[in-house]
Amino acid sequence: MSSFTIHLTTLSLIVFVAILYTEKRSLEKPQQLKLIIQQEYVPVQSKESKWKDVGMPFTTEIANDISLQMANGSTTKGAGAPLAAGGTEKEKEEEEEEELDVDVDGEDDEYVPFAVGRTEEGCDVFSGKWVYDKASMPHYAEKECRYINPQFKCEAFGRPDRAYQFWRWQPHGCSLQRFNATFMLERLRGKRILFVGDSLSGGQFFSMVCLLDRHIARFRKGHKRSPSLTIFAAPEYNVTVEFYWAPFLVESNCDNSTNHRVKERVIHLYPGSIEKHAEDWKGADVLVFNTYTWWLTGTNMKTLRGASRDGAKFIKEMELEKAYRLVLKRMVRWLERNLDPLKTRVFFTSMSPTHFRSIDWGGDRQGNCYGQRMPIFDPTYWGSASKKSVMQVVSEVLGKTKLPITVLNITQLSEYRRDAHTSIYKQQRYPLTNQQRRNPRSYADCVHWCLPGLQDTWNELFYNKLFFP
Ligand SMILES: *[C@@H]1O[C@H](CO)[C@@H](O)[C@H](O)[C@H]1NC(C)=O
Ligand SMILES: *[C@@H]1O[C@H](CO)[C@@H](O)[C@H](O)[C@H]1NC(C)=O
Ligand SMILES: *[C@@H]1O[C@H](CO)[C@@H](O)[C@H](O)[C@H]1NC(C)=O
Ligand SMILES: *[C@@H]1O[C@H](CO)[C@@H](O)[C@H](O)[C@H]1NC(C)=O
Ligand SMILES: *[C@@H]1O[C@H](CO)[C@@H](O)[C@H](O)[C@H]1NC(C)=O
Repeated sequence: MSSFTIHLTTLSLIVFVAILYTEKRSLEKPQQLKLIIQQEYVPVQSKESKWKDVGMPFTTEIANDISLQMANGSTTKGAGAPLAAGGTEKEKEEEEEEELDVDVDGEDDEYVPFAVGRTEEGCDVFSGKWVYDKASMPHYAEKECRYINPQFKCEAFGRPDRAYQFWRWQPHGCSLQRFNATFMLERLRGKRILFVGDSLSGGQFFSMVCLLDRHIARFRKGHKRSPSLTIFAAPEYNVTVEFYWAPFLVESNCDNSTNHRVKERVIHLYPGSIEKHAEDWKGADVLVFNTYTWWLTGTNMKTLRGASRDGAKFIKEMELEKAYRLVLKRMVRWLERNLDPLKTRVFFTSMSPTHFRSIDWGGDRQGNCYGQRMPIFDPTYWGSASKKSVMQVVSEVLGKTKLPITVLNITQLSEYRRDAHTSIYKQQRYPLTNQQRRNPRSYADCVHWCLPGLQDTWNELFYNKLFFP
């Protein structure tokens, strides 16, 4: 052996050890160690006995906490007034993710999984108007669907008017395909439909369950290993409709599916901070993501960038848009690495608007969604809580991905629906105080939506984009 070869061998050895050391160090973050332990995966339909009625991870608290916080005006405080950025230090770190590759050859008649037809060329199904249509709406009666969470049951909690159920979305350029549950169940035989996100994803999930419910004998409820995952299974079609609680998609200190009241939300943004959640998303065939409402804290976002060996945490404040971009990029990367675009469809539901300020639509100074019985008909209406800057991030990040992601652009059409919120007609978590009783608008929930109602339209659009892209 020449001394040159020996040197080369030694050098390789040094490099190898260095790599090992780096890998080891990156694993030393406590969160990541925990992650490895928790990754055990139980197949969806391994054994009958796995299906037992378990408590829903989706509890009253999810919907109540957030509407309370938002009712207190935290949504608007931060709008347009970002705190002074913490200097220029390590700007690079925030842009750590390399640019996503652009899919260049986007042929028109590319194969799209599950598609059976096309929407008319040039028709934007998200641009349109609300038409009052008592003949064809709603898709189901509130009483008919036994699964609706009490957070979304408005009639049962005393809502006196039902007009909000009769509005049908009419795109300007074409007509929507009517939601056909039998068709959907047949086309998705053996598949997993998964909603991921916060309580608004939860509402969309329950809406989907109700839309399908009439056409199957009975859903069986269950869950896998993670308490964050609720599963409704339709055995005759071997279809599951699932909901995974992850309000920021990546890990955060708000991930406990039953108890996520925290003083200060912290979003985990170290490498790998999506993996733990995403382990439960593997094998899903149709995925629908959403994240927005939890970002509206009125301040910059606190992000956890890592922890040192002795447990010290590196928390960094970031502008909402910047952190949002990083989270979406992490989601996209995970999807690109773990899903097959020829077998999977991915959707992203855009911002769900709130209606806490009737002044936005020319109402009185103190008002909100409480007592609203009609939609807004001004086509240009846009509420102050929906940040166009966030929409911009959604367009930018999701507009150039290797794995196509369809945006369900429901923001504008939902902006019009000040009448569709649960308002005071939902299960309350605490008994009302006398003061609240005297002033109902003080506890109106102008975040969530009644079922049946607006979110059935989100799903009708989802259905159209899935089968008629
Ligand atoms: C709302 O804000 C007020 C003062 O800003 C505070 O005293 C109160 O505790 C807040 N309520 C909730 C439910 O956060
Ligand atoms: C719904 O789909 C099923 C299965 O494809 C079909 O037989 C039925 O005619 C459809 N119903 C309507 C109203 O189009
Ligand atoms: C149900 O679907 C899964 C795939 O999601 C498949 O592995 C399984 O064999 C199917 N079971 C039946 C009874 O068709
Ligand atoms: C979530 O919170 C509940 C109630 O505080 C607690 O019992 C449960 O252990 C927590 N779950 C996890 C996974 O930490
Ligand atoms: C959603 O639609 C609005 C107009 O209603 C548009 O401004 C926005 O760019 C769209 N967003 C995406 C991500 O397509």
